Amino acid sequence: MQKLIIQGGFPLEGQISISGAKNAALPILCAALLTRESLVVDNVPDLQDITTMQSLLQQMGVNVTTPASSRIELCASHLTHLVAPYEMVKTMRAAILVLGPLLARAGEANISLPGGCAIGLRPVDQHIKGLQAMGADIAIKHGYIQAVAKKLRGARIVFDIVTVTGTENLMMAATLAEGITTLENAAREPEIVDLANCLRKMGAKIHGAGTDIITIEGVPVLHGGEYNVMPDRIETGTFLVAATATGGDIRLLNTSSNLLDAVLDKLTEAGAHIESAENWIHLHMTKKPQSINLRTAPYPAFPTDMQAQFMSLNCIADGTAIITETIFENRLMHVQELKRMNADIEVEGNAAIIHGIPKLDGAHVMATDLRASASLVIAGLTAQGETLIDRIYHLDRGYENIEGKLSALGARIRRTTSS
Ligand code: UD1
Repeated sequence: MQKLIIQGGFPLEGQISISGAKNAALPILCAALLTRESLVVDNVPDLQDITTMQSLLQQMGVNVTTPASSRIELCASHLTHLVAPYEMVKTMRAAILVLGPLLARAGEANISLPGGCAIGLRPVDQHIKGLQAMGADIAIKHGYIQAVAKKLRGARIVFDIVTVTGTENLMMAATLAEGITTLENAAREPEIVDLANCLRKMGAKIHGAGTDIITIEGVPVLHGGEYNVMPDRIETGTFLVAATATGGDIRLLNTSSNLLDAVLDKLTEAGAHIESAENWIHLHMTKKPQSINLRTAPYPAFPTDMQAQFMSLNCIADGTAIITETIFENRLMHVQELKRMNADIEVEGNAAIIHGIPKLDGAHVMATDLRASASLVIAGLTAQGETLIDRIYHLDRGYENIEGKLSALGARIRRTTSS
């Protein structure tokens, strides 16, 4: 199993380019299922989750090619196998995103239930409820969502909770439904706007993406097109936190500060100086960070996908902070690992109280999920001595060439396959 070894104590300095957003690329690849014509997607990050999605689409009969790096061409002229098997869904919950498009285009889908997952229960009831309101017959049998619909009909759907992939699934399904669909209490994440922009390029009629009411007027067919995926705001935020924690000075290219206002506000509160223009962000940190309280919530509030990274920053900040996780019920697993590095953290329910200490101690730790892994990398970069991070396959699901990018910024980090 692969591991990362980090020698801590070196500030990040220099510039790197941010990759395309995983969470925008995944639904956009699924949008290819909605048309017989070819969809060319650019700025796709090279990640394990993207490879898994490509394999899933391929086994459904989609012709997938990669004509150049970061570019994927998909053609779903003939769908042969309307199934997402357990083996694929269990490694990547976003596989649920094929449900809406398959049902809308082919009238049938058989998708494994994602089941439990490390960071929480993560049910898909809102996806199912919405598709049922659009006229789908759905049964859960043998751990699979078996869905059939001759023709989906537009409907008014009010989500009980804000769900990102739920909003994306129903928005995709509604593009080919008969009549008008309104999605209320919809998620407002920038990745939803990116997907809507791609769908619009393919001929879909969508209004209101980025607000909590999205209206979709169904059309008989969608056509192919070309689309460039937005920058990854979570990768951007992760590097910014790493630079803040190490007292660094970095410039991130091909990204935008508009995507992460809540994160930049918190980094400024921690003491970082930030400047930005249309497609770059520069961060400079000259002092010890101040501790910062935060509470995760749906966009535009503070993202749950940045919570773990800020936990590591608070570990070495001046003062005491409280971090409250409101989206997922079990997303504080990195606390145990950070404590192995001497962090002073108490957990009470869904909140962590972090008392800053001067320095973390390098230690042998284990990655437990994608963003928890990123927090351990940040902790390792600031720590005294060597940190060895085990099970980094979690990290490879969501960060493109992380050790390459960190090395380019002066970090002492290497990958090893030793047991
Ligand atoms: C997406 C992101 C993930 C991010 C999360 C929250 C992708 C591929 N993944 O995940 O990185 O952490 O948004 O910003 O975009 N829920 C239900 N019923 C449902 C659906 C969700 O109860 O039918 C609950 C979940 O258990 C969770 C909350 O709603 O507690 C939010 O989940 P959701 O927004 O759906 O997360 P994902 O779309 O899976």
